[in-house]
Amino acid sequence: MRNVILIGFMGSGKTTVGVRLSYRLRRAVIDTDKEIEKEERRTVSEIFAVNGEEYFRDSETKVLRRLAQSTGSHIISVGGGLPLREENRKLLHELGQVFYLKASAETIYERVKHDTTRPLLQGENPQEKIRTMLAQRDGCYTAAADVTIVVDDKDFEQILNEIEEQVNRDA
Ligand code: S3P
Repeated sequence: MRNVILIGFMGSGKTTVGVRLSYRLRRAVIDTDKEIEKEERRTVSEIFAVNGEEYFRDSETKVLRRLAQSTGSHIISVGGGLPLREENRKLLHELGQVFYLKASAETIYERVKHDTTRPLLQGENPQEKIRTMLAQRDGCYTAAADVTIVVDDKDFEQILNEIEEQVNRDA
């Protein structure tokens, strides 16, 4: 059984979809941010503040390499910046079926506007930041994905149904 992998911008719903999907498909869910936090015994914000983004990106690659060593029947939700590295995109592809949860900048802003845990979205004008980053990243997400699911205006049930259908088709 191949892993089911969820990628997409911050606030696209990867974590929530991952947890719900794990109940539906009866598979354990792994979240790369949580793996890193467990290993480092500190939060993503602390890692960014103390060691910077590159250090965090290296930790993401290490987690993926480790996951690639184990058997794949998990749901893996990954941090929004992880698919930006080419090596990571290759590893994701090896790990399983990759779903891009594609959300518009407006949807994302609505979901993250009160959030303080994502260092890259703090500071002045988060709306503009989201628009710019999303435009830069969308191509990488699409390149990494086997299936793109547009999540705007869909409830979680609909999104889960679409993913489950694809997973069954692939089985
Ligand atoms: C990041 C997304 C975050 C986390 C870190 C950096 C990004 O994960 O990995 O703050 O670069 O998009 P989520 O996508 O789960 O919020």
